[in-house]
Amino acid sequence: MHALRDILEQAQKNGVAVGHFNVADLVMLKAVFAAAQELSVPVMVGVSEGEREFMGVPQIAALVKSLRGEADFPIFLNADHTHSLEKAVEAANAGFDAIVFDLSALPLDQNVRQTKEAVEVLKAINPNILVEGEIGDIGTGSEIHDDAPDLSRGLTAPAEAKQFVQSTRVDILAPAVGNMHGMLKSMVRGEVKKRLDIARITEIKQATRALMTLHGGSGTNDEDFRKAIAAGIDIVHINTELRVAWRRGLEDGLNKHPNEVAPYKILPFAVESVKQVARSRLKLFNSATTRVSAIPI
Ligand code: G3H
Ligand code: ZN
Repeated sequence: MHALRDILEQAQKNGVAVGHFNVADLVMLKAVFAAAQELSVPVMVGVSEGEREFMGVPQIAALVKSLRGEADFPIFLNADHTHSLEKAVEAANAGFDAIVFDLSALPLDQNVRQTKEAVEVLKAINPNILVEGEIGDIGTGSEIHDDAPDLSRGLTAPAEAKQFVQSTRVDILAPAVGNMHGMLKSMVRGEVKKRLDIARITEIKQATRALMTLHGGSGTNDEDFRKAIAAGIDIVHINTELRVAWRRGLEDGLNKHPNEVAPYKILPFAVESVKQVARSRLKLFNSATTRVSAIPI
C-alpha cells in the first residue's frame, strides 16, 4: 500500500492532481469512494471541524480505515481546516493521514510561529502525517454565498510563500490564487465560473517547490483547473458542489418515494447524485495535462 506522500509525489511527476472531497455523512463517503474505485484513482476525503463534530473523529477514521483495508484501496483521510493545535492532535491520534493546520486568519508572523510548532508536535505523534499550512485569504464556508467577497488583497505572494514553507517545514502549502471557498448562486446555476491566477501558481511553485493544494475548487472553470494542475497544484478540494448534489439527490429520492420511510431506499438517490459530481471532477483532475496519464495504483 502506498503512503499519501508517495501518491502525491507521483501525481506531481505525472502532472495530475489528487481529488479531495469533503464528506459529512456516510452517503457522501460511499459516493466518493465508489467514484474513485470506478476510475481506479487515489482519493482524499476531508472533514472540517464541523463535519468532524457531526461524524465523530474516531468514527470517520474507522470508516476510512475499513474502506482502505477492505479493498486495499488508496483512500486517505484529512483533517480539513483545523484551527487549533488541540483539534489537530486529536485527529493525529485518531490516525488521520493529513492535517490542514489553518491559521491563515492570523498575522503572518503568528501563523508561521504556531504552524511550525504544530508541525513538530504532529510529526512527533506520527512521522508520516502530512501537515498543510495556509497563507492568504480564500474566504470561509463551503456554502452558497449571496455576494462575492473581495479577496484581491489576500492573494499569496511567492516570496512570502517561500519564507512560510522554509520556516514552518510544512509538507503542503495552500495558497490564495484567485480561489474562494463556497459558491455564488450564479455559480450553482452554472452561469459564472471561478477563475484562477495561473501565473501566481507557477511563481509560488517555483519559489517553494512544495506540494500545493487548491482549496475552494467548486465552480472553477475546467480549463483553469487543467492549467493550475500543470502549473503545480497537486491536490484539489471540492466541497460545495458535493453538498449541492447531496441536497438535490435527497430531494429527488423523497419526491420519487413520497410514502417511503426506509432510508436505504431513499438515500441511494443522494449517493448517485454525489457520485456523479465526484466522478467527473476526478476524471478532470487525473487527466489534467498531457504530460503523463493517470496515476497507476
Ligand atoms: O476545504 C474545502 C474546500 O476548500 C472546498 O471548497 O466548497 O469551494 O469546493 P469549495
Ligand atoms: Zn478549504
